[in-house]
Amino acid sequence: MRVSSILLASATAAAAAPNATSFYSTWMADSFLSKKHPIDNHYVSNVINEGIRQAALAHNNKTLLSWASNAISSVVDANGTIKNWDPYYYSLDDQRLGVNLLYFWDAEGRKEEKYETAAHSLKAQLDRFPRNAEGGFWHRSPTYPNQMWLDGIFMADQFYAQYTAYFEPDNTTAWNDIVLQFDLIEKHTRNKTSNLLAHGYDSSKVAVWADPVTGSAPHVWDRAVGWYFMVLVEVLQIYPKELPGYNRLLGYFTSLAVGLKAAQDESGGWWLVMDEPYPGAKGNYIESSGTAMFTYGFLKGVRTGLLDKQYKDPAVKAYDLMLEKFIKYEKNGTLSWEGTVTVGSLNSNGSYEYYIGVPLAENDGKGAGTFMMAAAEYDLL
Ligand SMILES: *[C@@H]1O[C@H](CO)[C@@H](O)[C@H](O)[C@H]1NC(C)=O
Ligand SMILES: *[C@@H]1O[C@H](CO)[C@@H](O)[C@H](O)[C@H]1NC(C)=O
Ligand SMILES: *[C@@H]1O[C@H](CO)[C@@H](O)[C@H](O)[C@H]1NC(C)=O
Ligand SMILES: *[C@@H]1O[C@H](CO)[C@@H](O)[C@H](O)[C@H]1NC(C)=O
Ligand SMILES: *[C@@H]1O[C@H](CO)[C@@H](O)[C@H](O)[C@H]1NC(C)=O
Ligand SMILES: *[C@@H]1O[C@H](CO)[C@@H](O)[C@H](O)[C@H]1NC(C)=O
Ligand SMILES: *[C@@H]1O[C@H](CO)[C@@H](O)[C@H](O)[C@H]1NC(C)=O
Repeated sequence: MRVSSILLASATAAAAAPNATSFYSTWMADSFLSKKHPIDNHYVSNVINEGIRQAALAHNNKTLLSWASNAISSVVDANGTIKNWDPYYYSLDDQRLGVNLLYFWDAEGRKEEKYETAAHSLKAQLDRFPRNAEGGFWHRSPTYPNQMWLDGIFMADQFYAQYTAYFEPDNTTAWNDIVLQFDLIEKHTRNKTSNLLAHGYDSSKVAVWADPVTGSAPHVWDRAVGWYFMVLVEVLQIYPKELPGYNRLLGYFTSLAVGLKAAQDESGGWWLVMDEPYPGAKGNYIESSGTAMFTYGFLKGVRTGLLDKQYKDPAVKAYDLMLEKFIKYEKNGTLSWEGTVTVGSLNSNGSYEYYIGVPLAENDGKGAGTFMMAAAEYDLL
């Protein structure tokens, strides 16, 4: 179950030969260590760190795991202050660090008080966070007033759930507030025919892209849906099964899985802009970060019993495509990662032309980090 047969059969261009003795999760993790990517509290650094951690855990590699642990430790001062973080700058992206803080706090015996202090600061910010009239966190203040994006659910609500599970497990207000964030984005952005969700919505309906009735953005952007699929599979591991919100979250996850399976291209990947009639349209392309995220969500969903086994085959097909199309074999034996779009933002006009005009980058951590996570799940199969 190591290197895919497709890959071995294809004569990959120029660079080093695929290494049949390596797992791609740890191989990509090692490659990223050699690239000296920034170690900071930015959400992209945190996603890379999560990828390295999950690769390490899938293979019980203590060297890689302690690298990830040290990286997280280095962004929090001894007194629990998160370096270069302004508690009065309200951006949901900055909440993502909390997932790593709580992971290492728990896994290392709950003795690092600085992690607890830092997690309390992040939660205190959430308690003050600007919200729209329905109770949804703004994606960022003052930049995106009243707007919720799928991306922001990933950035904040896994931490919010993990924090609540550890520190306030009986706080029903918090559990209800967490599921409310999902309920709102579902209500405003889900297409019940395709089962896919548009990128976000503006509750005040004034954004240039906002639908006058629902407030929804017009298009389904693969990475936003990818973040959302991932946060659903993660929050379902944490959310109390006896609360009514659990079954709603499970329904959101399984119905999105139906939509994603239907939207998968015959190559195994997913299109950057996923709503009809854009798959296959001029300028659209199979994008690597969304493909990695959907693969991860399917595989973890199957492994943890949330999804039935029919989703394994589409995930393996996507995994094979990633090895064939998005992995680049460098001459020095490391891997690079291709095909990830740098950004997709609702600070734009939200049009198809906007999304397809954004450049791609090599070794973008939003794709490479989530590929490590998907590959770690593949290795666990
Ligand atoms: C291998 O080559 C890649 C691409 O040039 C580079 O980014 C990386 O730092 C190199 N790694 C090592 C260990 O030399
Ligand atoms: C663990 O990872 C390190 C660094 O990436 C690597 O050098 C080492 O060979 C790995 N160990 C095992 C047992 O796989
Ligand atoms: C925490 O420690 C850092 C670095 O030593 C320092 O800059 C900061 O003022 C301290 N914060 C508090 C609240 O003590
Ligand atoms: C319960 O959760 C809510 C929402 O997160 C929070 O405002 C409140 O302070 C929490 N209450 C307690 C007792 O922890
Ligand atoms: C919902 O999805 C269907 C099937 O792809 C499509 O025909 C319809 O236009 C979509 N509705 C909206 C409001 O985007
Ligand atoms: C293949 O990977 C293994 C384990 O990471 C490493 O020890 C070996 O040097 C690699 N071989 C080549 C040809 O890159
Ligand atoms: C929306 O923005 C894109 C560039 O991001 C531009 O190509 C397109 O013409 C704009 N559309 C409208 C309707 O303004």
